Amino acid sequence: MSPAGFEALRTEALACTRCPLAAGRTQVVFGVGDPAADLMFVGEGPGREEDLAGEPFVGRSGKLLDRLMAEELGMQRSECYIANVVKCRPPENRDPRPEEIESCRPYLEAQIDLIAPLVVVTLGNFATKLLLDTTEGITRLRGRAYPFGAGHLVPTFHPAAALRGSGEVLAQMRADLVRAKRLLAPGGLR
Ligand code: URA
Repeated sequence: MSPAGFEALRTEALACTRCPLAAGRTQVVFGVGDPAADLMFVGEGPGREEDLAGEPFVGRSGKLLDRLMAEELGMQRSECYIANVVKCRPPENRDPRPEEIESCRPYLEAQIDLIAPLVVVTLGNFATKLLLDTTEGITRLRGRAYPFGAGHLVPTFHPAAALRGSGEVLAQMRADLVRAKRLLAPGGLR
């Protein structure tokens, strides 16, 4: 990982006006954590709290993510890297539009290239479909690891789905994180 390259990318993103989401943001939510981490999480896009804080996953979903990270991986957010598909908040927390995702995609791809994580955990449909280049939904895609770069991609539900849904969603998220942990271990196997 080149620290200078990562900082240059961040500086570029913070001034981005490539799509209309720029007009409504308080700030760009580039990402947080250790750019040299082996593990990267990719969510959908900032919500109101993230837009205000300038940091991904600081609201209710983020609290759950922090808890699952601690309980299943024994890690804190500072030990991995967390980013989103889109770096600016969609108004009223609507879904990001295809053209917004396309405009923002080079930032995420560059983040992944520079961090070069061993394992990427995608949270929910948007990140999973984008990075696996598929139209298949998360329910069908989760439950296994996929080759990705020099490592693996582990798709799981978005924490908001676990907050809304049944205990089963949460249990499946836990199982997916255990899969990620195994892949992170030296000589990690699926
Ligand atoms: N949901 C996301 O997908 N990302 C965030 O940063 C917060 C909530």
